[in-house]
Amino acid sequence: MEPMTEEALTEEVVARLDGTPDLRLREVMQALVRHLHAFAREVRLTDAEWIAGIGFLTETGQISDDVRQEFILLSDTLGLSSLVDLINNANATPGATETTILGPFYVPNSPQRAFGDSMIEFDDGGELTTVSGRVLGHDGSPIPNAVLDVWQNSANGFYAVQQPEVQPPTNLRGIFHTDQQGRYEFRTVRPKPYPIPADGPVGHLIDITGRHPWRAAHLHVKVSADGFRSLTTHVFDASSAYLDSDTVFGVKGSLVADFRPSGDGPLQCSVDFVLTTDQS
Ligand code: BEZ
Ligand code: FE
Repeated sequence: MEPMTEEALTEEVVARLDGTPDLRLREVMQALVRHLHAFAREVRLTDAEWIAGIGFLTETGQISDDVRQEFILLSDTLGLSSLVDLINNANATPGATETTILGPFYVPNSPQRAFGDSMIEFDDGGELTTVSGRVLGHDGSPIPNAVLDVWQNSANGFYAVQQPEVQPPTNLRGIFHTDQQGRYEFRTVRPKPYPIPADGPVGHLIDITGRHPWRAAHLHVKVSADGFRSLTTHVFDASSAYLDSDTVFGVKGSLVADFRPSGDGPLQCSVDFVLTTDQS
């Protein structure tokens, strides 16, 4: 037998996967092994570092449950979630609204609310805001009866799902429809920057790598309409802190919008959403 070398070991593991019946699984697993081994070789991974890595992943699994998904948080803070989002939306129609990650605070089945209604069910002293605009096809034609599923945090920085003892569960969540001219409108409060849950292993990693855990202020919107690809995106407040250092790498310049004062009335935030057709 030839003496084992680092490269020969990698090739042996890759070859062991040659018989994987599912060809896509074979491609993914063989690439994973090559990159994982290349990483260990590049940093000359020590025994202590390898066991620390195992410990970190074990803790990441142990703190996860039905509502807390620490592995997704890890993926988010390493930019992997945003990379997967970019890869999978690269063929969107030019001019279509850019996509972002979903995040962990989306809750399905928000209340249906009428055009212009408020999502505020809990007085947190936030700045009142009207968000309005149109949902359009890429040719600029309005899309009637498009569905906008909206969620955001309260002025205290938390989403309703994070504070079941404090906020009503449907606070600052709502499902809206566009009218015959493709317009939508709702009332809310100005979202606030907030730290991602930082009390677990991912928060510790952020801390010891000299990073901060903050996200720039945003509201989340899922937009869907018959014949169009569903869009998951954010609207970022142009005056928010952390736009250039969002901890999950979610900010895209095209998604930043002004929250403009309008006399004594609510702030006004005007945003159009442009959808990609199903075929593209
Ligand atoms: C969010 O925007 O809700 C979010 C995204 C990633 C990690 C934590 C929160
Ligand atoms: Fe968020």
